[in-house]
Amino acid sequence: MVKTVEAIDLVKQFDGLTAVDKVNMSVEKGELFGLLGPNGAGKTTTIKMLITLLKPTSGKALVAGFDVLTEADEVRRRIGYVPQESALDVRLTAAENLELFAELYGLPKSEIKPRINEVLELVDLDKRKNDLVAHYSGGMKRRLEISRGLLPTPQVLFLDEPTLGLDPQSRRVVWEFIHKLQKDWDLTILTTTHYLDEAEREMDRVAIIDKGTIMAMGRPEDLKTEFGKDVVELVIKSTDGGDSGEQLKSKLLSLELGTDLSVSDRKVRLGVPNGKTALPLIMHKIESVGLGVESISVRSPSLDDVFIKYTGRGIREDEGAQDSEDTKKQRAMMMARMRRRV
Ligand SMILES: Nc1ncnc2c1ncn2[C@@H]1O[C@H](COP(=O)(O)OP(=O)(O)OP(=O)(O)O)[C@@H](O)[C@H]1O
Ligand SMILES: [Mg+2]
Repeated sequence: MVKTVEAIDLVKQFDGLTAVDKVNMSVEKGELFGLLGPNGAGKTTTIKMLITLLKPTSGKALVAGFDVLTEADEVRRRIGYVPQESALDVRLTAAENLELFAELYGLPKSEIKPRINEVLELVDLDKRKNDLVAHYSGGMKRRLEISRGLLPTPQVLFLDEPTLGLDPQSRRVVWEFIHKLQKDWDLTILTTTHYLDEAEREMDRVAIIDKGTIMAMGRPEDLKTEFGKDVVELVIKSTDGGDSGEQLKSKLLSLELGTDLSVSDRKVRLGVPNGKTALPLIMHKIESVGLGVESISVRSPSLDDVFIKYTGRGIREDEGAQDSEDTKKQRAMMMARMRRRV
């Protein structure tokens, strides 16, 4: 296997803050690899070192076989980069935006027009190339930015949060194009995301990064298999003057219900081998200490569970993710069944 990106003990410090802490990873040729981590985990800093925009404090990295420190020009000639923040001029048309960048990349004049048409066709924007970017949707803007990253005919494409802030349908379309590029151009793609469902579905391999350190790495299916248990989720009934989160957690810990216990408000999640069989006993144990169970459910582990196992918290916990109506219904049904059994 050819390693197209390789980081060895890569470190970046900013005034005493270690943003990236001895990162070791490699991405193989043609692979779609994702860095997953919460805000401030060090994803963008890692990418910026790999694309020679930031100098590592220590360690080494090779991209397309060239050293990012000593052969930066060679690296730059072989990469495309789509930054996390949008950098489009909305007062210009799509074609005009790309022309500016094509000149910046030093593309020969005669090649600029055909190249722009080619990359716009790839992301299905060729028919809209003379529209003002101000009139583009969020998903179209992101596709335009990806096409811009393709102007220099890269071997490796770095996509920092390609779908951040897009609605689910636009996210899906953007991923379709990313897969098309991976396949048709035999591109190696290193990307970052906050969306674990997307990482699970779209990426060949992922690394979970937290506070600058890689906590786990592998194929999403393998990481889930290694988790090795079912996930039981339950909601504890609220009572006036009930336990605080910490009290509730220590009470539940003493019951030894399972592993990887996390408590957020009254929502409890834990890992249990053979979760379905264990549910009646779990409910019985909880009720024996005077707590009520409002709802309970069991499911196979997701990448989100793997993430919590390694980092101790959810990737978007701060954003106050809400359960969908479907999840609520499933929980209520499971609860009714349990009541009949106990
Ligand atoms: N130029 C800089 N100067 C000082 N500190 C920085 C600089 N760039 C990043 N940092 C810090 O390094 C840490 C990692 O930042 P980074 O942007 O790599 O995180 P991230 O994983 O990309 O986060 P996000 O998901 O929010 O994009 C953060 O604490 C950030 O504040
Ligand atoms: Mg970032």
